[in-house]
Amino acid sequence: MNTLFNGDDKLSQLLKINDELNHIKDIDSLLDAILYKTRRLTNADAGSIFLVEKKALNFSYVQNDTLRQRDPLNNKQIYSSFSIPVDEKSIAGYVALKGKSLKIDNVHKLDNTVPYSFNRSFDEIAGYTTQSMMTIPLITTRSQVIGVMQIINARDDLGKPIPFKESDESYLNFFAGSATAAIEKAKMTREMILRMIKMAELRDPKETGAHVNRVASYSIEIFQKWAEKNELQYKDIKNYKDILRISAMLHDVGKVAISDVILKKPAKLSDEEFRIMKTHAYQGAKLFAGNVSDLDALSYEIAYSHHERWDGRGYPRRLIGENIPIAGRIVALADVYDALISARVYKPAWKETEVIGMLKQEAGHHFDPELVGIFLSIYDVIKAIRNKFPDKE
Ligand SMILES: [Fe+2]
Ligand SMILES: [Fe+2]
Repeated sequence: MNTLFNGDDKLSQLLKINDELNHIKDIDSLLDAILYKTRRLTNADAGSIFLVEKKALNFSYVQNDTLRQRDPLNNKQIYSSFSIPVDEKSIAGYVALKGKSLKIDNVHKLDNTVPYSFNRSFDEIAGYTTQSMMTIPLITTRSQVIGVMQIINARDDLGKPIPFKESDESYLNFFAGSATAAIEKAKMTREMILRMIKMAELRDPKETGAHVNRVASYSIEIFQKWAEKNELQYKDIKNYKDILRISAMLHDVGKVAISDVILKKPAKLSDEEFRIMKTHAYQGAKLFAGNVSDLDALSYEIAYSHHERWDGRGYPRRLIGENIPIAGRIVALADVYDALISARVYKPAWKETEVIGMLKQEAGHHFDPELVGIFLSIYDVIKAIRNKFPDKE
């Protein structure tokens, strides 16, 4: 019997979580699940995950119950982006550098002898008070630190912040091991997808990594609101979001089948060229035909239906209204919005007011009117996503 755990209960919980994590494909869904489970195990109010990228700690995911309760509709926090160096100056940097977890009972009463200090800027911006904190390194079996997880404000039964327990530290270090393995696997999946997208980008320079990341994130957020409105089950929403991000990123991958003469033509396409261009929807779908997994099935659906229009005047199948799969309707809106609001080689970016005016005008024509309403209601999140994934100069 392992003395690290308070009886079988915690151990069996951890094993069950481990199994769940191994089924998640998308890196963002995975970070969400890891933080949520960690916070549940320790009754922590908030937490974030930083992943090492280009030798710095990149802020990658955040959850905060208090802020979420204060403003339930606001999900833009998760699209904040900043990075901190791996050094002794910050708590997260120190933990990444040393590869050892750190339990702090009160971040405002740090000992004078420690090299790190608490960065108050997040609390100040968000109007939040961090007190207790536990920071755990994410270390691979090859002893490489790939990130840190930081959980904040353990709570007593009344919700008052209290220090984390010693026992929390032991089993979270154990849990961090399986979390790290799952993160590595999901990162590999994401990299494979981005490589596929790069192949498409070599052919069609409009389909950049930043564009597909934005389209996927808008799609996730639109879907979340749509699913809540239509009272889908929490578990179904989570599972769908996991595969939606990846599938949405692949919406235009069928362009690999279109000739360069057409894709890179600097002038307007002839009718015949446009007819060929439109086959990218079907060509993309063909890549995922066979339905071996949910991910394939959804990628097929999105590639096939992202150019359909609500009024039936789209292509390739001229589907109408709700006959267009919901994922296709969502990606259509996200894709067109992003194409217009971004500058491209052949056109400047449209003004924001013009794009919004067009969306309103096209509600019920090009786009599902319910989705346009949802999109506009989460517009500050949409803007946060654009900030997180800017086009490279
Ligand atoms: Fe397309
Ligand atoms: Fe696109």
